[in-house]
Parts: sequence; structure tokens; C-alpha cells
Amino acid sequence: MCGIAGYIGKEPAAPIILDGLSKLEYRGYDSAGIAVFDGESIHMEKAMGRLRVLDEMTRHGALLPGFCGIGHTRWATHGCPSDTNAHPHMNAENTIAVVHNGIIENYGKLKRRLEQKGYRFASETDTEVLAHMLTEYYRGDPVEAIEKVMHRVEGSYALGIMFLDHPHHIYAARKDSPLIVGTDDTGKFIASDVPAILQYTRTVYYMENEEIVCLSNEHTRFFNIDGESIEKTPATIDWDIHAAEKGGYEHFMLKEIHEQPKAIRDTISPRIREDDIVLEELGLSDDAIRALQKITIVACGSAYHTGVTGKYVLEELARIPVEVDLASEFRYRNPLYAPGSLLIIVSQSGETADSLAALRDAKAHNCHVLSIVNVVGSSIARESDAVLYTWAGPEISVATTKAYSCQLTVFYLLAMKFARLRGTITPRRFQTLLDALRLLPDQIEGLLSQKEKIQFFANHYLATEHIFFMGRGIDYALCLEGSLKLKEISYIHSEAYAAGELKHGTISLMEEGTLVVAVATQDALYPKTVSNIVEVKTRGAFVMGLTTLPHRDMENHADYVLYVPQTENCFMGSLSIIPLQLFAYYVSLGRGLDVDKPRNLAKSVTVE
Ligand code: AGP
Repeated sequence: MCGIAGYIGKEPAAPIILDGLSKLEYRGYDSAGIAVFDGESIHMEKAMGRLRVLDEMTRHGALLPGFCGIGHTRWATHGCPSDTNAHPHMNAENTIAVVHNGIIENYGKLKRRLEQKGYRFASETDTEVLAHMLTEYYRGDPVEAIEKVMHRVEGSYALGIMFLDHPHHIYAARKDSPLIVGTDDTGKFIASDVPAILQYTRTVYYMENEEIVCLSNEHTRFFNIDGESIEKTPATIDWDIHAAEKGGYEHFMLKEIHEQPKAIRDTISPRIREDDIVLEELGLSDDAIRALQKITIVACGSAYHTGVTGKYVLEELARIPVEVDLASEFRYRNPLYAPGSLLIIVSQSGETADSLAALRDAKAHNCHVLSIVNVVGSSIARESDAVLYTWAGPEISVATTKAYSCQLTVFYLLAMKFARLRGTITPRRFQTLLDALRLLPDQIEGLLSQKEKIQFFANHYLATEHIFFMGRGIDYALCLEGSLKLKEISYIHSEAYAAGELKHGTISLMEEGTLVVAVATQDALYPKTVSNIVEVKTRGAFVMGLTTLPHRDMENHADYVLYVPQTENCFMGSLSIIPLQLFAYYVSLGRGLDVDKPRNLAKSVTVE
């Protein structure tokens, strides 16, 4: 996934574009570039490495005078990170410049055709194909040329485009990759996401698939892929501008870990009224909920992990069969959509390509799709039949924390609501669960006060090469997330295992000093997990036990014990994850890594 920003107006464009790109670096940061019309030509500068390289090279845009431009921060898909492969890409005549987020899936065939016509390629990217195709189809009308290209390319794209003989215009188009248009009294903006323009304007247009926009000082014109003018209604962004800033924390991740109590309160409170759960956004009648035969949860990464917990909680409370699948696998296994099925897509960004594709497959089979999404107005939210938003606010750190925790609580709300309607729990049990749910934010706040203890423990494992996580039931689902958090920001190899599964092979990896994190918060499974702890201990492992205060005997088995407060077993994941998030954070910090922008990653993967 990459970040796009563009501006046309009364102010110098380059500083505005570079500021915008700095708010989009979480989308990709292996190289960056900018192109500005300087009154005579399209002046382009590109640089491998973080955005600051380009910023310093251009003296924060001072060396690129002009009032109309586009910029890009890249997460490489085709072609290694390099100056040449950085965007923008231009045609040979330097009369057309393009920035692109997405993948042109048929670029190989298109590239060969263009080469046969004599076009020469400078880069290894799929994007450069677009610059030459626009040249091929351009006869003086940019929108017409863009339409022709859109009809011929397959894949996903958000595009920013400049034409030299339309120097005071920016053009943009999108299919499957997000793009917004902003307007204020100084000019017009394009961006991949809201943070890039929030300091200038709160008035935005969400571009829909196969739409084109032409921006100039005089007008904002939208077209469909057939060149017909279309009217769009602007939306108003109500984000708190500081929500997209660090707020005094060293990293966005630490800030967002600490925002979890508030994020959870914001997510559950509007949906709890007079001791009942109200999910008006659900789009399902009570009878439809009672008639549900099966739920399929589809997501990627951490969102998938919340689905694993969701399975345990929904089956435990609502007694509905639940299947959880990785979005990248789901649609390729020719899934079955039985009548009475509900498909739930979980996604923080609402733009993950695999999850969006799974949603579309389900809708093509007339399956009701509910999504649990954090970014308001995102593609997945807009294309679902119903969406339950997590009100976590903007999550900037690539490693998700607060959105993950809010997704968990939405599953708790769903499970309790469904269980209540289907009569699989008593009113008294419902009330007990509701009381426990309301208490979670306070309990998390208590856990956050232990962060120094976790930092102390983490600092003993900075040089570790392998860490194993194990647990049973919901604890296993937690281990999946704890392991991913550690891997993605500390680059330490880690695996999560169902504790009962280790002895079927992986236990052969246990040797003197191997670190094993054993999560044992599920009372009914506690003795079994303790047995697994003994199994790895006898083979030399060093075990950090994570359990609840009543299980003090853990100190007889584990080498180091972290306690979390007691709550309902099915909600324990919301508490156990806090120490594991902090553990990953402090290991990454101790290893001197870029916690918020880990290598090779991006905040939302909008390509397959
Ligand atoms: C989580 O820390 C990772 N950044 C990644 O696994 C992420 O959860 C996954 O890419 C799904 O993203 P989404 O929730 O925006 O769809």
C-alpha cells in the first residue's frame, strides 16, 4: 500500500504535499517522490528511503516552486525500492506524470504491447505502464485519455495525474484503492487518507470505484468511467486533529496502547442502553438473528485473530456454529454460502484487498455481510450490507492495538446480543456479562500501570532469537496475536501454538533457555496448560506464565509470572493482550527499531 497526496491552489504546492505525505508514511515508506508544475515544466524529484530524504533534498519543497503538484510515498510491490522505481512516473516527453497506489495486474501484457509500439521503460514498476498508456491515448482531453486507460487496465489503482498542457489541473481516479478529494478556501487536495489533509480541511469527497476527478482553482468536476459528469456530496470529517498526532508519547503505538480504555468505552457505551445491547446498525431483524444457522468470520492478520476469539465467544454464548478463515484463502476455496449464513468481515483500515475481495465474493452469492471496521467511509464499510464501527479513532502505528481491542469488544456485544435473543443464556447471565464488559476499560487502565515491570522483563530478551507462545481456547487466540505483535515490530522469530499441540512435533525445538510465554487464564483449561508448561520446562524452556490472580500456584511451575485481573473467561483476551502488546513494544524499543513503521510492512495492505 502507498500514500498519495496532491494539491492545486494559491499556496506553494510542494510543502503541502510533503506535509501530507508525512501523515501517510504509515502506508508505505521505502521511497518517495514529488512532481510540481513550475510554470514551464513538470519538475520531479524522487528519492529512495524515508520521506525525510526527499524532504531534505528539496528543502521541504522550497526547491520545487509551483502551485500544482502530486506526491507519493511507496511500499514496493513491483520493482525493488530505488530512486528509479519511486513514483511519480513520467512518459518519455515528460509531459505526463503519474502516482499510483495499487497493482496493475495485467501490466505485463500492457507493457509488452507498449514496447512493441516503441515505448521505452525506465523502471521495473507496473505504474510506469500507466504513464505510457496515457501518452498513447491522449489527444488533448485528459479525462478521455484516463477513461481509455481505465477500461483497459485490470487490478487496483488510486491515481494522481498531471498533464503538462493542462498545467493548472490535477486529475485523479480510483478503483479498489482509497482516494479522497478535499477542498478549502486556498485550493483543492487529493489524498489516500484523511490525516494527509486534516490540518487544511474537514470537507472531503470519498471517490467511488471507477470515478475520475478534475481539479483546478475554478472547479471540482467528477466523472464516471464513461466520461459522464456526476454529482457528489461532500462529507465532513469530525476527527479530533490531535487524534492523528503522538500526543506526547514516544511512539504512536504506545499512545494507542494507552488509548485502549477510552477506545473501548467509546465503542461499547453507545451500544449499551438500559442494561440491554442495542445494535441498530446490524441490519438484521431479531427473527433473522434467531434463524442464523452459521457465521463465517473472514479477515487478515490481527483482525483474523479477533475472529478466532470471536468464534470461541459466539459459540460459547450464542451456540451458533462459527467458521473463521483468512481472507487470502477464503475466496479461493470456492466457499459454500448456506441459507441463513452471516459473513463478518473484520478490518481496521477497511481497505485490505483480500478482505474486500472476500466481501465481494460473499455479496455475489447473496450472503448478508456485516463488517467490523475502524475507518469510517472506507471501502469495506461502504460495500457491506451493515457495518459496526469500532470507535478507536485514527490508528497510525502499523501494529494494531486499540482497533484490535475494540474489535474484540464488538464480538462480545454481538455474542451477548445473539445469545440473549436465542435464549442460550439467562437474563441473569446476560447481566453478569454486561457488568464485566463495562468494567474492562478500568481493568485495562490498571494493567497499563504495570508497564515498567513488563519493560524490565522485556529488556532481558532483546537478543532472543525465538519465542514461543502457547495457550488453550481463547488463550490460544491471544497467543496468535501476542506472537504477531512481537514478530512484526521486533523482528524476532515467534510462533503461537495451541498448548496441547506442541507435543505433536514442535516440542522438538525446546532446548535449554528457550523462552515460552504460556497464557493460562481459562479456568477450565488451566490444569491442562500447566501440564504443558511442565512438558516444556522439563526440556529446558524458560517459561513466562500469564494468568489470573487466583492461580498463584503458577509460581510453582513458571519461571516468571505476570498476573492479569479476573473477568469473565470469554473476555479474558481483552486483558491478557495488554501485557503482550507492551512486551512486544518494549522489546522493539530495546532493540532500537522503528516501532511505528516496521520494515517491509504497511498499515493497510491494499494489494493481494
Ligand atoms: C496487525 O498489527 C498488522 N498490521 C496486520 O496484521 C493487520 O492486522 C492486517 O493487515 C489487517 O489489516 P486490516 O485490519 O486493516 O484489514
